[in-house]
Amino acid sequence: MALDLDDARARYHFSLAPEDHERLPFYSALLRSLEVDNLALEILAGVRAEQRNPMLILAALHLAALRGHPVLAPIYLAARRGELADPFDAARTVLAVLHGEPELVRRELHRSTQTNEPGRSAVLQAVIARVAGGRGATINLVDVGTSAGINLHLDRFPVRSSDDVNPLTLVCQDLGGVDRSLALPVIESRVGIDLAPLDLSDDDHRLWLQACIWPEEQRRHDRFEAVVAARRWWPDSTVLTGHALERLGEALALGDPRHLTVVVNTWVAAYFSRDDQNAYFNEMVQLCAHDNVAWVSIEGPLAVHWPAPSSEGEPPRKGGSQILVTLRGGEPASWGWCHPHGHWLWLDVPARSDPPSRSPRAATSPS
Ligand SMILES: C[S@@+](CC[C@H](N)C(=O)[O-])C[C@H]1O[C@@H](n2cnc3c(N)ncnc32)[C@H](O)[C@@H]1O
Repeated sequence: MALDLDDARARYHFSLAPEDHERLPFYSALLRSLEVDNLALEILAGVRAEQRNPMLILAALHLAALRGHPVLAPIYLAARRGELADPFDAARTVLAVLHGEPELVRRELHRSTQTNEPGRSAVLQAVIARVAGGRGATINLVDVGTSAGINLHLDRFPVRSSDDVNPLTLVCQDLGGVDRSLALPVIESRVGIDLAPLDLSDDDHRLWLQACIWPEEQRRHDRFEAVVAARRWWPDSTVLTGHALERLGEALALGDPRHLTVVVNTWVAAYFSRDDQNAYFNEMVQLCAHDNVAWVSIEGPLAVHWPAPSSEGEPPRKGGSQILVTLRGGEPASWGWCHPHGHWLWLDVPARSDPPSRSPRAATSPS
């Protein structure tokens, strides 16, 4: 089948949010170079459909740098330290390496983009606190597409509006409708599902997770190291290997039936086929209608086409990801938007979606 180079070009072009182009001069320059380079287009266009994501190509190059490639390593290190004199010049050099050694990337294309971004816990905290109904609630948590399972520990991360010295702190700008005073529920059980879960104690898995972090974001690298160090003190979790649709029932059965089970998926459904997206959506809606289950889906609206009217409203900032919530006994509803890595959050919870209140605070929270 002929490769669709126009599609690959568009994927490179739109893979970063506009604000990220400003923040990340090296990755911005690199993506601009890749989108006009035939070899880079062919490589991306040839990737299996569910992983045809520019981030896979970027991570493969970053992996080579982390493994000490003599040309790439110093460039990526300088990018991480904010010391690149000319990002376009650096991007041209990376492209020359790709042309000279395309196997550096090609041999990693069997992998998946498995960025496990703790910043998403800042969004999950605000949404799940509201879904669970505030103080005194206990939930089972199921994270579909959990990668290394970091967001199963969403309650381990302090969330602030500005940075502090704690590398685990998540900085999230709340743009409206967010009530950070709502208590997080107690998380009774933590179960993840992933096609190919990553293990933080495995050297190759850890290196791949680091490669998936954008090099210019020193803070994310510091946080990742802090997560690896802290993980052994965190509560146990269970990770099931397999397709979400095949392991979901088992994951739900591991929870305590007395408590609400909150199923979350963050930046996962884009990797499902269209049929699987539909099947997963229908299954989640049925579970919420008939069982003690609520569903929180946070996905990019361009890549995920739920059969529901999921494009209600517009994000407050370009490139936002949509937060779709289905409460127990409720219908899927758009609850707002957030930055793909949780840098900002805007909630607009429809009145009909308000959960039954279990605390005075929850009763007075804005809707
Ligand atoms: C981009 S990562 C996101 C990881 C995590 N949810 C987060 O937000 O940090 C997507 C994850 O979904 C997993 N995945 C993709 N398709 C899947 C499927 N059909 N069933 C279960 N997991 C899947 C991948 O292996 C990968 O770990």
